[in-house]
Amino acid sequence: MGNNAHEKKIYLITGNPHKFEEINALFKNHFLNYKLELKNAHPIEIQADDLVEVALFKLNSIKDKINDSCFVEDAGFFIDHPLQGFPGVYSSHVFKKIGNQGILKLIDDPSRSRARFKAVIALYFKPHDKVYVFEGEVLGKVAAKIRGSQGFGYDPIFIPNAMPHKTFGELTKEEKNNLSHRAMAIKKLIDFLKKNP
Ligand code: IMP
Repeated sequence: MGNNAHEKKIYLITGNPHKFEEINALFKNHFLNYKLELKNAHPIEIQADDLVEVALFKLNSIKDKINDSCFVEDAGFFIDHPLQGFPGVYSSHVFKKIGNQGILKLIDDPSRSRARFKAVIALYFKPHDKVYVFEGEVLGKVAAKIRGSQGFGYDPIFIPNAMPHKTFGELTKEEKNNLSHRAMAIKKLIDFLKKNP
């Protein structure tokens, strides 16, 4: 690996170091022609009822200042049963206000719950002067109690269907990166970058 003279840069705009860490691990696994750089800029965050809309607005508010290929990633935790998708696009705010304990209080029978994480990436690709969207999702349910200390946010209360005995908070970074919503969306971005080296 090391520094490649032909390596191009692609900027991830986020204030969340966990996201950078997860995404950078995937980039490094794929021997891309692109090096991921963290950009802690301040895009405009809107409240809308669709993650794609939030991500596109965010990207469009900042891409001209960066003036190079760059992307944002927006995610949400959707409890489809019994909370009709709550907290969804309000995930960040709700997490700060009531946390995982508060969410668990809202769910009578976690064993019958249905939940999912969704991630949306909005990429400005300078060579095409175009914006692209990539999405990823992981299905599962809500745990009966908080378990595990890995990851961040709602990880300790989400049990993925693919590993039904563990919460995301109990998975190693590599395990989470094999099946997370973010990983699914990033793999689509990586395929795109491979086709456009
Ligand atoms: P953001 O606006 O994309 O940063 O995500 C909104 C909120 O969803 C975050 O504040 C986290 O609480 C939660 N979230 C997003 N991705 C994850 C994840 O991979 N694990 C756990 N919680 C997440």
